[in-house]
Amino acid sequence: MTDPLTTTDDIETYLDATREARLESYKAFLRIPSVSGIPAHAEDCRAAAEWLADSMRTAGLEHVEVCETSGHPVVYADWLHADGAPTVIVYGHYDVQPVDPLDLWTSPPFEPVVVGNRMLARGAADDKGQVHLHVMAAAAVLATRGAFPVNLKYVFEGEEESSSVHLDGWLEANRDRLAADVAFISDSGFFDGNLPAITIGLRGMMYAQIDVVGTAVDLHSGQFGGAVQNPANALAQIIAALKGPDGRIHLPGFYDDVRTLTDADRADLAALPFDEDVYRTELGLAALVGEVGFTTLERRGARPTLDVNGIWGGFQGDGAKTIIPAHAHAKLSTRLVAKQNPTKIFEALRDYVAQVAPPGVTVTTTYIHGGEASLTPTDHPATQAAVRALRAVYGTEPVFIREGGSIPVTAAFDHVLGLPVVLLGFPQPNCNAHAPNEWLSEANFESGTRTIARFWDELAAMRR
Ligand code: BES
Ligand code: MN
Ligand code: MN
Repeated sequence: MTDPLTTTDDIETYLDATREARLESYKAFLRIPSVSGIPAHAEDCRAAAEWLADSMRTAGLEHVEVCETSGHPVVYADWLHADGAPTVIVYGHYDVQPVDPLDLWTSPPFEPVVVGNRMLARGAADDKGQVHLHVMAAAAVLATRGAFPVNLKYVFEGEEESSSVHLDGWLEANRDRLAADVAFISDSGFFDGNLPAITIGLRGMMYAQIDVVGTAVDLHSGQFGGAVQNPANALAQIIAALKGPDGRIHLPGFYDDVRTLTDADRADLAALPFDEDVYRTELGLAALVGEVGFTTLERRGARPTLDVNGIWGGFQGDGAKTIIPAHAHAKLSTRLVAKQNPTKIFEALRDYVAQVAPPGVTVTTTYIHGGEASLTPTDHPATQAAVRALRAVYGTEPVFIREGGSIPVTAAFDHVLGLPVVLLGFPQPNCNAHAPNEWLSEANFESGTRTIARFWDELAAMRR
């Protein structure tokens, strides 16, 4: 049977002919060190936004604009000539995580190189690589067909890795311009073993800091030790009270709003081709741990967590220094699932920390940022269009997965703009996102570009 959709041969020819040029352009984008979380890189973030805007103009997209926010700019562009067809918001982020520890990179993080079949650089996968392949897919469609079968509105932000603090405001302020039928986010990835996957669940987040203060300056631990509270010990005591050895989090009310996994949810997760021993061995760990009564896939995708992200205080140098530190601190985050509310969880943490804090120190708990979890129905027509696009390009049946990570805007698309969200991204799960030697395979870069072009066809066809 012939394919009912427009032939993609013209696009194939174009993509084959532009392969080298697209790789060079990908590298140029990756060379800009757009680390959103480090203030010294603010100008680099702007440069990445400008670079992106230029390449979107070159691709033939319209109304290209570098939009100011109170933080790093949002890059907007659209193409709105498919009368009567659905309108899609395409989301990605051009900012990246910091690169430390630098000495573990085999080549400098902002000097992209192809090693074997992999593009190696910070942002190769998360998320500049994916933003870039969207722009390349747009260029390919417009160069070969002169038109898209759907209407597209691109929103590429620069603060995702620092929790999208200014994006909700920008979405609110641009509500009319952003009217759409569906949001398409390419900031997740495939499943273990490079299996094409659609992400249907992302966790939310509540990030906080605990500061424990004793005296104004460090004390001699011989002169004062035994008579005063040690802030570092006090902090350890507080942290130890937060979670039990069974993996259960002790904050009162923490689980109240957690949506219970149905038997069907659990069966779906259990059916995924996942080898726990391989997973553990690749991590180099002797054992996997987590909440009692749940599998590893449930623990990392569908159950909430609480983890210390950093802890410091007192003497850190070589040798020894005998002090009672004046203060101690911890950053901690909880990954949340539907229907937990970040504000409510923060209040539970703040109150519980105050309750378990030992006397003799001042303890403050501060909210840093938060976002809600999201869950997309697998039977939504747009999700099904993504299934067909993946099937067409990879020749296999994609799997539905729940990811433990968070993309703050996902819930906002849902709540602020009322849009269903399709999460489809192309890196492999071991792509070293946020870690040294981040990579994306050339194969996934190429097939991802084709999948996106195909997805627009499938979305347009969905109404027929
Ligand atoms: N792309 C990730 C989110 C992600 C990770 C999706 C793994 C699917 C699988 C995103 O860039 C990210 O790192 N998000 C942060 C959000 C935080 C800074 C609010 C995260 O999850 O830590
Ligand atoms: Mn990302
Ligand atoms: Mn990230």
